[in-house]
Amino acid sequence: MRVLALGLVISALLGATAFADDSVADGEKVFKKCAACHAVGEGAKNKVGPELNNLFGRVAGSHPDFNYSKAMVEAGAGGLVWTSETLHQYLVKPKDFVKGNKMSFPGLKEQEDIDNLVAYLSTFSTAPTADPAATPAQ
Ligand code: HEC
Repeated sequence: MRVLALGLVISALLGATAFADDSVADGEKVFKKCAACHAVGEGAKNKVGPELNNLFGRVAGSHPDFNYSKAMVEAGAGGLVWTSETLHQYLVKPKDFVKGNKMSFPGLKEQEDIDNLVAYLSTFSTAPTADPAATPAQ
């Protein structure tokens, strides 16, 4: 539990500043585990899963052209928005965090892999990685 809490603190700190280039490069390698089902970058299309450009700040289950499970749409309706924090929670064990969602992926065991992956994914998003509600207005 302490390790998880520390990871969340670190990721929150990282979210406030720019991610280190190393994490982005390492995250790109971790993304190979996702790439069978998800695309990012220019011209990314939905595959087995929705494309993940501009993921940060996206309400869960809200990509207009993707056919989500009822569970994912309901999670979004219930207030789930993708941020560094919620992605960290989801990617540990997707089936537990959004019960009944149809992403067939067991989860990532290494906290560092998740940190790096979130850093990599953030390079394809224009929104901040942190929950906008948690960031004071400028
Ligand atoms: C075997 C295919 C598969 C793999 C591998 C996979 N996903 Fe998914 N992913 C899906 C599917 C299908 C959904 C839609 C789930 C639903 O509707 O219940 C999804 C949904 C998501 C969502 C929610 C997106 C939204 O628009 O709400 C995120 C975030 C996500 N995946 C990230 C990842 C990441 C990061 C990885 C790699 C660590 C990964 N996925 C690996 C198939 C996959």
